[in-house]
Amino acid sequence: MIQYTGYLAIHKFESELEREFEIKGLKVAHKKDRLYLVEGEHPAMIWAQMTAFGLEFIPIASINDAAKKLRALGRNWGLFTVGNHRRAELIQNELPKYNTKPIPFRHPLPASLMGFWTLWEPDQILATAKTSSPFALGEMDFQEDKVMPPSRAYLKLWEFFTVYAPEAIQGGTSIDVGSCPGGWTWVLRTLEFDKVISVDKAPIEKRIMDLGRIDFRKESAFGLDPKDFGEIDWFCSDIICYPERLLNLVKRFRDSGKVKNFVCTIKYQSETDWENTLKFLEIPNSHIVHLHHNKHEVTWFLKGDQQ
Ligand SMILES: C[S@@+](CC[C@H](N)C(=O)[O-])C[C@H]1O[C@@H](n2cnc3c(N)ncnc32)[C@H](O)[C@@H]1O
Repeated sequence: MIQYTGYLAIHKFESELEREFEIKGLKVAHKKDRLYLVEGEHPAMIWAQMTAFGLEFIPIASINDAAKKLRALGRNWGLFTVGNHRRAELIQNELPKYNTKPIPFRHPLPASLMGFWTLWEPDQILATAKTSSPFALGEMDFQEDKVMPPSRAYLKLWEFFTVYAPEAIQGGTSIDVGSCPGGWTWVLRTLEFDKVISVDKAPIEKRIMDLGRIDFRKESAFGLDPKDFGEIDWFCSDIICYPERLLNLVKRFRDSGKVKNFVCTIKYQSETDWENTLKFLEIPNSHIVHLHHNKHEVTWFLKGDQQ
């Protein structure tokens, strides 16, 4: 039986995923709505909000038959409908329920696999129990803090430190460049760092400064010299700038050997800058993901234990 890798494009970023297929030499065999199928086994993609591995077409005789066949494959099922919406919902209603409540920051991720299925035709489902995310369709939501963070940018760092870097933080120093109005600095301040260095040309909010243990520097990040710093555990950047400028800054700090881990937002203007995005990936053992909380931007990271 033919197996496919399924990629669910991010709403409004379908053309980014299509470009990524071209760059990586993948040929799309089928497409419906935002769902793209490529024959065979392939890795997750930056611009897919969820990747479904080993998808198979399965004939079904009825709603009950579909639910029975899905239950035989796995417990948790995220549905993406590409048509026949009502019939698909009726099948989904016959499947086990799972927790869809927003989670707190740093909450352990669900341990069980999340499957993916769609009703491709009225008498044919497409399904797999194995996907790239423990959340249905890769959509994760937090119990937001509506009081402290001065901007919604904090959700990106919450997602990153919950999903990609859940390890305990034991002291040390973090640096946040492009920090105003202070969302990321606030997140870093809530983690167990001894010190947070926060750098922006504009000041961060006073109530964040008042939390203490924040060394705010009102200057351009591009003028920073790694020689002026001690060891840095996490170098974090959410600066609005051209990707090439960020790449040069990251390389300067990486070459200094003083930084253990990096997490940086690569932001795009009207066009996605693939040339420099791919240059980021040339940095060994580093990764790029499109977080659920990213917009027209991606998140590059490098973890010291993987260098
Ligand atoms: C998207 S905002 C950062 C939001 C922040 N992460 C938060 O959570 O509140 C981007 C920031 O980059 C800053 N920025 C732009 N150029 C900069 C530079 N050369 N040096 C430092 N910061 C810069 C801007 O002043 C702006 O505050």
